[in-house]
Amino acid sequence: MKYTRTLLLAALLVSLAACTQPKPSTVGSDAGIEKRIEQLLSKMTLSEKIGQMNQVSVGGEVSNYAEAMRNGQIGSILNEVDPVKINEFQRICVEESRLGIPLLVGRDVIHGFHTVFPIPLGLAATFDPALVEQGARIAAVEATGQGVRWTFSPMLDIARDPRWGRMAEGSGEDVWLDARMAEAMVRGYQGTDPDGSSMAACIKHFVGYGAAEGGRDYNSTFLTERQLRNVYLPPFEAAVKAGAMTLMTSFNDNDGVPSTGNTFILKDILRDEWGFDGLVVTDWNSMGEMISHGFGVDRKDVACKAVNAGVDMDMMTFGFISHLEEMVASGCVKESVIDNAVRNILRIKMLLGLFENPYVDVAAGQAVQYAENHLDAARRSAEESVILLKNDGILPLDAAHVGSILVTGPMADAPHDQLGTWAFDGEKSHTVTPLMALRERFPGKVNYVPYGYSRERRTRFDDIVSAARRADVVLVFLGEEAILSGEAHCLADLNLIGTQSELLVALKAAGKPVVATVMAGRPLTIERDLPNCRAMLYAFHPGTMGGPALVNLLFGDVNPSGKTPVTFLRTVGQVPMYYSHTMTGRPYKGETLLNDIALEAGQTSLGNTSYYLDYGARPLFPFGYGLSYTTFDYSDIALDKTVYPADGMITVSFKLANTGAFDGTEVAQIYVRDLVGSVTRPVKELKHFERVALKAGEQRTVQVQIPVSELAFCGLDGAWKVEPGDFQLWVSGDSDSGQPVSFKVQ
Ligand code: NOJ
Repeated sequence: MKYTRTLLLAALLVSLAACTQPKPSTVGSDAGIEKRIEQLLSKMTLSEKIGQMNQVSVGGEVSNYAEAMRNGQIGSILNEVDPVKINEFQRICVEESRLGIPLLVGRDVIHGFHTVFPIPLGLAATFDPALVEQGARIAAVEATGQGVRWTFSPMLDIARDPRWGRMAEGSGEDVWLDARMAEAMVRGYQGTDPDGSSMAACIKHFVGYGAAEGGRDYNSTFLTERQLRNVYLPPFEAAVKAGAMTLMTSFNDNDGVPSTGNTFILKDILRDEWGFDGLVVTDWNSMGEMISHGFGVDRKDVACKAVNAGVDMDMMTFGFISHLEEMVASGCVKESVIDNAVRNILRIKMLLGLFENPYVDVAAGQAVQYAENHLDAARRSAEESVILLKNDGILPLDAAHVGSILVTGPMADAPHDQLGTWAFDGEKSHTVTPLMALRERFPGKVNYVPYGYSRERRTRFDDIVSAARRADVVLVFLGEEAILSGEAHCLADLNLIGTQSELLVALKAAGKPVVATVMAGRPLTIERDLPNCRAMLYAFHPGTMGGPALVNLLFGDVNPSGKTPVTFLRTVGQVPMYYSHTMTGRPYKGETLLNDIALEAGQTSLGNTSYYLDYGARPLFPFGYGLSYTTFDYSDIALDKTVYPADGMITVSFKLANTGAFDGTEVAQIYVRDLVGSVTRPVKELKHFERVALKAGEQRTVQVQIPVSELAFCGLDGAWKVEPGDFQLWVSGDSDSGQPVSFKVQ
């Protein structure tokens, strides 16, 4: 009894000590900033506080918003990138409003500002966080150069359904890859030493948005808490740990609760578990859309639900500005809730140094747009993002002996489409297309026969085919327009659109070597197209410098190193198919497919395992796949121990040899399987990757450390921990090859 009391007392003292310890700030605030926040807050009227929580999309004349700004009714704006206007907005807020609080100026800077980088799915294909961080830094330098200090990026939604158009905007299907890209982008946007070029990152969409039913945007999701914790939340948590300053709620309802009114995710997980002290903004009118969801009767109701759930700022519902004051009066919302929201907003404004330096130097900002080193980084990012899917040896083409080149296909000279979705500020006049790059490099040798997407253009086939007969090599650039992916741009058919596949058939029949390059916002179902070309490069919309990057790859100045950040399907009916699935009780054993057999009379079954009779159980290309002009060989894969403690460190070593004739870079990937768990575990999970550059003939022993804590997951009891038992580990060039080595955790 006495013993129990002592224990209780000790526990109480520990918890009291924990209470008195201020939680460390996830966004980098300190006591000085917190004091300034309290001083300012104490001077604010309720109306001014609510004004800070109001974000408005501005357009047209500055004067349209001047009065609201003077009265402290707008805390943030989005969609203005004219630095002169932004300075004027800031001047009104800083000099003419009672408390002089500067604005937070937001914009969707998703994969570059003026200099457009590959779409995020392409950036993920680089498996190169350092390069992605550099790209995000460049985006921040250009955007802040025009007064934008907050980007609504990175999008961290795990996407396992290529019908969903927004797959383009994220890092694909994998948790670990997504988390590394998240950290890289946060570091890049915000910078490591905050200065005028720091742009607050906004991790979005919290949470589960990518699991939209049927791949139709905005649709409901039905994710269990365990799926959230094991798959959808980890990239967000990684980004919070990396210092992400802001977070956006998602449009979807999960299991009946729209994110913008979801206390469990916004408070229990984000604030209480992760200690996030940044700013939470709604998505565009996602508060208002809770009425359509049937989660609230009117704007007042949903505003009350959102603010009480933990939303700090309303993007474009105008629910806070219209109703919060009366809701505080009626007792539906406590003023302390408003105070906390305002603290979160002011904290970000102070961290960005907006109070000290609200204005942008217009001339200096102009000078950095499209800077030479920015274009160079965009080209390198595009080069690393491209995936070689097929090569019968025709690539790389020999630049010294190339004859006449036929260039055709809808993406050969599509300066706008090659930029991809969300390239608001990228100007097509700055885009370098493959056609431009080829003409510059091979003057007089390029014959361009344009080709559009639509069926009417089919008459062009004859011209193209006769030009193909006259050429030495055919470079055909296929794909989808930028508008076919991105927000609200979902597809039910993932084949190449229009008559592109037929074009490829016709080109092949012309008898000259055909090299295809696809530019798209998602992995299209290109199985039927592969036999009709001798090589295929796949570029997720590659941005401003996509043209030169592709030409460098085609002619071997650069060796492809991109890997698929998402599984490529044979047919859309396979959705969802991803490498990191759990195991059924009846796994596919390679049974005969419908096409391959003559059905015997009276046959009643083709097997009792998990597969499609017509398409089997395998994708076209697995996650992590990508060829090179050289070949790589993995050997001597070894672990430093056979048994590890749960808090231990696994040292993996392996020999990687470049066994071909070209210098190249291999993305070596490490996958792990937890064989038996309190709940079933994925058949493989990526736990590390490493880009290894090797000269032709070179080999190197690579050593990698993986903390055993990386094997933790949310099991049956809901706790996040490593469960002891048997594991397997693979080191390989994709998620579907290699032999496992075994180890135990005890
Ligand atoms: C809606 C999109 O879902 C979100 O990602 C974006 O940041 C906002 N609109 C603002 O444009």
